[in-house]
Amino acid sequence: MAHDFSGKVALVTGAGGGIGRSTAEAFAAAGAKVVVGDVSVKGGEETVALITAKGGTASFVRCDVSQDADVQAIVDHAVKTYGALDIAVNNAGVDPEVAPEAQWKLEDFDRIHAINTRGVFLCMKAEIAAMQGKGGAIVNVGSFASVAGVVNKPAYTASKHAVLGMTRAAALQYARAGIRINAVCPGGVKTAILVDNVGTSAEAAAAVGAAHPAGRAAEPEDIAEAILWLASPVSGFVIGHGLVIDGGLSAQ
Ligand SMILES: NC(=O)c1ccc[n+]([C@@H]2O[C@H](COP(=O)([O-])OP(=O)(O)OC[C@H]3O[C@@H](n4cnc5c(N)ncnc54)[C@H](O)[C@@H]3O)[C@@H](O)[C@H]2O)c1
Repeated sequence: MAHDFSGKVALVTGAGGGIGRSTAEAFAAAGAKVVVGDVSVKGGEETVALITAKGGTASFVRCDVSQDADVQAIVDHAVKTYGALDIAVNNAGVDPEVAPEAQWKLEDFDRIHAINTRGVFLCMKAEIAAMQGKGGAIVNVGSFASVAGVVNKPAYTASKHAVLGMTRAAALQYARAGIRINAVCPGGVKTAILVDNVGTSAEAAAAVGAAHPAGRAAEPEDIAEAILWLASPVSGFVIGHGLVIDGGLSAQ
């Protein structure tokens, strides 16, 4: 459905590509002023250029979500530049881990948790503070790995279970304050992360598609659509939910 986010300010982390870019573009197309955060300056600036070329409003702030000062700075930017923070999508994440159990590395575990887990924690902390007294909506990007174990991915699976856990805990705490907090839990999505994991071959892409009952992996737009729905008033009674969008993967 067509959403109207006119007059709203939306922050999207990890918006330099993939799901985050698609989400930032969708919010801007629906009238929101969008703050694009990413560690990649190139990716973030490209997203802003894509939005402004279509007449939308957006600005980029380089932000490593694992760093408290970066996170506070991007939230401050939203409030100072556009007057408020109404919507936040905590999407930045990494998924580098494809080693068999015996080769799991502690530094990979720590890096994954610094970005996927601590990043969401730091972002929610700063965003909720900015939304206090006014209300707002937060959508965290979890994963199929928030609701199931994924082979060779213990740290990623733990981090995405943590994202759903933090979503539920914070949602309960702030429901009466008018801050709605939910998560999306995607299956395979055609982005850089998926390519990093399975490679670029046609066979690999076909195998990922075949693993999903839908017969395909998701497009980033499939996930962006659900994020906009969770951020909009039409989902006003949805609180602390992890919306699985996985082409039927977890229904098997
Ligand atoms: N693609 C999939 O199959 C899939 C499935 C389930 C969940 N997810 C989740 O979706 C989210 C987005 O991933 P994507 O698939 O769009 O991949 P992507 O690699 O295209 O996008 C991730 C973005 O996050 C940015 N980023 C990485 N570390 C960061 C940090 N420390 N601070 C800020 N930005 C950072 C990257 O530069 C990149 O632009 C992630 O949380 C990922 O775990 C992806």
